[in-house]
Amino acid sequence: MDLISLIKTVGYAGVFLVIFIESGVFFGFFFPGDSLLFTAGFLASQGFMNIWVLIIGVVISAVAGVSVGYAFGFKIGPMIFKREDSLFFHKDNLVHTQHFYEQYGKKAIILARFMPGIRTFAPILAGVGKMNYSVFFLYNVIGGLLWGAGLSLSGYYLGNTIPNIDKYILPIILLIIFVSVLPTFIHIFKEKSAREKAMKLIKNMMPGKNKKILALNWKMNPESLTEALVIAKSSDHKNAIVIPPSIFISEVARILKRAKLGAQDVFYKEVEKGPYTGAVSAKELKNLDVKYVIVGHSEKRAMGETDELISQKIKTVLDNDMIPILCVGENLIQHKNGSTKKILEDQLKSDLVLIDDLKKQIIIAYEPIWAIGSGNPETPENAVETINYIKSSIKKEHPYLDIKVFYGGSVVSQNIADFLKRKEIDGVLIGGASLKPETIFK
Ligand code: 13P
Repeated sequence: MDLISLIKTVGYAGVFLVIFIESGVFFGFFFPGDSLLFTAGFLASQGFMNIWVLIIGVVISAVAGVSVGYAFGFKIGPMIFKREDSLFFHKDNLVHTQHFYEQYGKKAIILARFMPGIRTFAPILAGVGKMNYSVFFLYNVIGGLLWGAGLSLSGYYLGNTIPNIDKYILPIILLIIFVSVLPTFIHIFKEKSAREKAMKLIKNMMPGKNKKILALNWKMNPESLTEALVIAKSSDHKNAIVIPPSIFISEVARILKRAKLGAQDVFYKEVEKGPYTGAVSAKELKNLDVKYVIVGHSEKRAMGETDELISQKIKTVLDNDMIPILCVGENLIQHKNGSTKKILEDQLKSDLVLIDDLKKQIIIAYEPIWAIGSGNPETPENAVETINYIKSSIKKEHPYLDIKVFYGGSVVSQNIADFLKRKEIDGVLIGGASLKPETIFK
């Protein structure tokens, strides 16, 4: 496409319209923004346009386009994500988007301006993620100025200084795109957490990524390291969390290539080491590459673990950037007398009392005590009902907490699929059968 004659034909209004659409209207993502601005600046240097009218108009259109994108995302976000999970939209995506924009929103709004394609979607996602509007607007204006004025002025300046510049416009534009994209890539590749967050965001936008998780709680098994390594080897699947007793963690860590590593318990205090006989600190676990920690298992509660201890452990796990797997569940008497929901609500309330941060992820394992090790699991229908209750009751107190809810209690090879096919159940926590992984990873 010959941009020079195109711009001459459409004039100011055409340029402003393209910039507006490209900045935030989703079908504008393929428009040639950078080259358009540069060429328009060049044409201004040749006397076809007034550079000031061009710059002012471009900046206003760019800022307005991005604001419209934000408003669009803000409106459609809840509509899409309110629906139950579907192929393309998983509700988790909303939370991931929110977290991303809370942490990286300012940079994203400015840098995305310089990234063809991305620039159209970044403001829409900022709206979906409900980024604070005044912060958004400020960075929108900064980005609009840097990009709109920057590129037009470069074209203007080069057009004025280099004779026959029009011959070199294409390579110059390619260079501009390359140089403008570079800082973003450098940033993403240098900063691990930014890279992980960006990857997570992209991955979460992909259909079919939300794989169900199998968390394998070995409890106090097996007896020997040799057996432990055999079990670990056949549990090494991408969607598995292998949770050996602490004595085997470091050896199992060497074996696992695909599965994530978990621990069954942690010391409640936020200390890295010290005079605490028998305890294992969160930092020690983290150093062994542990990503998940079970907290509040009914077997530990039966040994005296209180809600107060549990709440402190959860905080310690989160503060060390690991994910707690909080187990909750009712006993048989409570189950029979219909007090399950009340019990769960009380447990959740007191166990999560120290959580106050938006950027947290936590897994709740609903494990009815009567179902554990009994060969008599809860039915998937009832488990789903209780899990929905758990989700809504947490949402009330912690609307921004990123939660997944698993079912646990006599999950074995014969029934695992019945649980995992329910979209409300994000995974399973398996005890006994985790020692025979070949039966569950069929
Ligand atoms: P079972 O799968 O042996 O019933 O154990 C469940 C459990 O307690 C997992 O934490």
